[in-house]
Amino acid sequence: MNILETLNSRVTLIPEKYRNMSTEQLEARVRELKEKFGSKLYIPGHHYQKDEVIQFADDTGDSLRLAQLSAENRDAEHIVFCGVHFMAETADILTTKEQKVYLPDLRAGCSMADMADIHQTERAWAKLKEIFGDTMIPLTYVNSTAAIKAFVGKNGGATVTSSNADRMVKWAFTQKERVFFLPDQHLGRNTAYKLGVGLDEMALWDPATDTLVFDGDYQDIKVILWKGYCSVHENFTVENVKAVREKYPDMKIIVHPECSREVVALADDSGSTNYIIKQIEQAPPGSSWAIGTENNLVNRLIATHQDKKIISLNPFMCSCLTMNRIDLPHLVWCLESIEQGDEHHVISVSEEIAEYAKIALTRMLEQS
Ligand code: 13P
Ligand code: SF4
Repeated sequence: MNILETLNSRVTLIPEKYRNMSTEQLEARVRELKEKFGSKLYIPGHHYQKDEVIQFADDTGDSLRLAQLSAENRDAEHIVFCGVHFMAETADILTTKEQKVYLPDLRAGCSMADMADIHQTERAWAKLKEIFGDTMIPLTYVNSTAAIKAFVGKNGGATVTSSNADRMVKWAFTQKERVFFLPDQHLGRNTAYKLGVGLDEMALWDPATDTLVFDGDYQDIKVILWKGYCSVHENFTVENVKAVREKYPDMKIIVHPECSREVVALADDSGSTNYIIKQIEQAPPGSSWAIGTENNLVNRLIATHQDKKIISLNPFMCSCLTMNRIDLPHLVWCLESIEQGDEHHVISVSEEIAEYAKIALTRMLEQS
């Protein structure tokens, strides 16, 4: 089920009482419920979550780390995922039937994941097979629906995250001549380029028109990129890079590979959320950095590393709106609904989809 289907089926707005509680009351309630559930409750939090939520996370991490932690955890009965919908689905696929995964606000989707649905994907695969026969392997960024992960698993492929995309694309080329990469064109393009695939060997699949966009001989194509993107990272532009270079000539620029090829090429460095955090941690005091990734994380890095000068690469950047849907009132609502035995926030992937999606995820986890 994609996020729109989830919404249509069961979105209920948060009861007024949670909106009327003070921050102190909400925080006290989270502490009380965490104490009450003990090790039966596990709260993983993605680095892009707000501070008001992240302070209660049992573990924080990027999408790879949180998938690994979910797969390892066998104690918690209730996993309250502070992140977005595809991350909660992944956790559900990797945990046991007895463990339940919850998303505090069901509207916390990912606009990139919503740019590819399973029907479009199956249509694309059928058309591409007519051109390329059995020479392709599908890879999907974890930022995709469980149904797409299952499709990839069924067709010999795997999931990737921004932390292991290099390794997974290399692996994919040991399996087949061509890679079909969903849904983020930028992560796919940046990764393949880094591995030596020329831009003139990459084609774009446009799901809106069901067409392959490529200027040249189809037989030269090595990577087919789905025409999806992150609406947050697309807001870091070449103009932003130029402005920083002009104003702060000594500043280093580091960006997430969901940024465009042009921005990644002009930056000093690029890497996953985790990679960015590590680079900043290891940087010498007094060094200065412009970071091209989500704002909650950039602001946290600014607050944590006051011995370094850190700014956002785009001074007018906003946080990821869907990540931001998870806030303290929704966290308390979710925890109280678990206490009351209400299933409202449960994320449950059907067994049939989970079986094949797990194959795609396991191929990735085994190589990470
Ligand atoms: P990471 O894989 O770096 O955690 O990124 C997830 C994400 O949603 C980035 O926009
Ligand atoms: Fe999706 Fe982009 Fe938000 Fe990540 S930052 S959850 S890719 S919309």
